[in-house]
Amino acid sequence: MNPTRPEPQNRLDDPADEQTSDPGRNTHRTSPRAPEPSAVEVHGPARVIAVANQKGGVGKTTSTINLGAALAEYGRRVLLVDFDPQGALSVGLGVQPHQLEATVYNLLMERDTDPAEVLQDTGVENMDLLPSNIDLSAAEVQLVTEVGREQALGRSLKRFLPDYDVVLIDCQPSLGLLTINALACADAVLVPLACEFFSLRGVALLMDTIDKVRDRLNPDLDLLGVLATMYDTRTLHTREVHERVVEAFGDKVFDAVINRTIKFPETTVAGEPITQWAPTSYAADSYRMLAREVIAR
Ligand SMILES: Nc1ncnc2c1ncn2[C@@H]1O[C@H](COP(=O)(O)OP(=O)(O)OP(=O)(O)O)[C@@H](O)[C@H]1O
Ligand SMILES: [Mg+2]
Repeated sequence: MNPTRPEPQNRLDDPADEQTSDPGRNTHRTSPRAPEPSAVEVHGPARVIAVANQKGGVGKTTSTINLGAALAEYGRRVLLVDFDPQGALSVGLGVQPHQLEATVYNLLMERDTDPAEVLQDTGVENMDLLPSNIDLSAAEVQLVTEVGREQALGRSLKRFLPDYDVVLIDCQPSLGLLTINALACADAVLVPLACEFFSLRGVALLMDTIDKVRDRLNPDLDLLGVLATMYDTRTLHTREVHERVVEAFGDKVFDAVINRTIKFPETTVAGEPITQWAPTSYAADSYRMLAREVIAR
């Protein structure tokens, strides 16, 4: 590992995944790359961040919810966009996708959709949601024949940008047209990578896709960073994979590392971000550290 890089701060001892009774316990977990952010007085226009990896189950949705909630705690106005027809982001925030009247699908496909009708409250101050459900899978098919099909999401999000500081787009696990739409309108991409066998497999294709989108559709697209997730403190293997990720991406790897803990599946059942469900937990603090790094980058 690069000796000038700080060791990931939150990976060595996650004391039995238990919620600590001492909320100050993790305050020493700072990084020079994650300073305490200053308050924002004027909001917007938003920076748009796509959370993408075509590999399934690496923590895209979990990271979107919890990074969003941590940014909101720091006073940022956050808009989460569920851009996966599975609707997991919506479910993770307690929204029942099949009961919705209007979703991101309507924003994409019907010009006269009232944005206010699609916006959902998340139960987190400063954070709103544009939900999705299975209807979105039809958009992928319908968009194929449209002019400017890669820019449909960008067109739909424009009107929201002045009201928010950060827009986080939770992508589906594919490099299809929906993900391309997210990359085409994003300022930056955040790539969650699980610290597991084969996690690096397919990443070259993702990076290649990002390069192509930059060349052809969105010259300003940046790689914001790579987030190591599912870090299992008990296995040497996890550490080895993490070291390989750092070798491959260097400074682009966030110092914040997300440990594997049962708390995340539990928050999905609760329909709440970890910062609210277990606010003093190690896991919540890891996402706060990520939020500080994202603000600083
Ligand atoms: N750090 C973690 N530790 C343990 N479980 C986790 C962690 N992060 C996410 N999970 C769980 O792993 C599963 C997959 O996570 P998540 O849905 O965030 O991944 P995803 O990349 O969005 O998946 P998909 O590709 O299907 O959209 C979920 O059940 C989630 O609760
Ligand atoms: Mg997901």
